[in-house]
Amino acid sequence: MTRRILVLPGDGIGPEITAQATRVLEACQTLGLDAEIEQGLVGGSAYDAHGVPLPDETLDKARSADAILLGAVGGPKWDRIEDLSKRPEKGLLGLRKELGLFGNLRPAILYPQLAEASTLKPEVVSGLDIMIVRELTGGIYFGQPRGIEERDGQRVGFNTYVYSESEIERIGRVAFEMARKRNGKLCSVDKANVLEVTILWREVMDRLAAEYPDVELSHMYVDNAAMQLVRAPRQFDVVVTGNMFGDILSDAAAMLTGSIGMLPSASLNERGQGMYEPCHGSAPDIAGQNLANPLATILSVAMMLRYSLDEADLAARIEAAVGKVLDDGLRTADIASEGKRRVSTSEMGDAVLAALS
Ligand code: NAI
Ligand code: MG
Repeated sequence: MTRRILVLPGDGIGPEITAQATRVLEACQTLGLDAEIEQGLVGGSAYDAHGVPLPDETLDKARSADAILLGAVGGPKWDRIEDLSKRPEKGLLGLRKELGLFGNLRPAILYPQLAEASTLKPEVVSGLDIMIVRELTGGIYFGQPRGIEERDGQRVGFNTYVYSESEIERIGRVAFEMARKRNGKLCSVDKANVLEVTILWREVMDRLAAEYPDVELSHMYVDNAAMQLVRAPRQFDVVVTGNMFGDILSDAAAMLTGSIGMLPSASLNERGQGMYEPCHGSAPDIAGQNLANPLATILSVAMMLRYSLDEADLAARIEAAVGKVLDDGLRTADIASEGKRRVSTSEMGDAVLAALS
């Protein structure tokens, strides 16, 4: 059955990096991937064309796609838009919400070829390969009531931390399934010594553990997890946590690898439909200069093939091709080091394509 892939280049370096990733997708078509690829507008570029960051046409295309590849959105050009609902980021948030993309997969992998990029000592970090599973559509970022109001003569700000059992269970299942496919190790991160929400979180994870006897579940408080991530990061394999803790821990884990241009991500819904994007932003400082590293976006294509398109073999081929270009010493500016060959965005794309075929 022909699958539908929607590419949303977005803003800044988005068009440059998604152009290279699209070439990789096209190469996959010649290697047996049965898919149609179309494009759409999102973010600041959509605002410029249609006055809104998420045009109906884009949303319609997104709803009917099996998978979406997004570059990045935002940039100084749109920072002065006063109506917050029209800011570029709202395009991304709108897609997550409309498609129900609750399961955010954030791998943090230290490539052996880039070991020197990490700020941690090689003996602590080499071989790092963590998968953080972050709940993306609930928790304190969305809980009601929320606001800032006057109480007893002073202003009070408040948010509400809520998770229902069913929300915890569905992200838990994503994490247990992931652990089952990897090394059978899952660490659930909470603050069950202080927050009731996470007492429930822990209970639900324990209940699920009975259904996954092949997965070894452990629990850790979030403050300790932050400490352990920096002290001995390789103790983790799959980590599951809520929206806010996941936001913070996944950025910290990602930065242990030192190379923002290398990190992909996925956001999945209950139907297995997913949006795939690099972890970095639109990098306005280098946009339009053919300097950006396209590998995070190309690795996002690999995640798409694995998690939404049931093409794990093609995914592995792309990952191997990326490994090969790193072995060959090719480096974009963000991962440059002495004695290695500096290449542009498009040259990196050329090299991955050559390695693929
Ligand atoms: P950023 O990730 O865009 O850039 C941070 C630094 O990393 C910059 O020096 C940039 O040049 C470099 N960098 C990022 N990606 C790179 C790549 N592929 N290759 C080489 N170097 C790369 O984060 P920043 O500067 O905080 O945000 C810039 C804009 O991006 C803002 O408008 C922000 O709102 C937006 N943003 C969008 C995201 C998204 O669409 N998912 C996520 C994060 C930021
Ligand atoms: Mg973040």
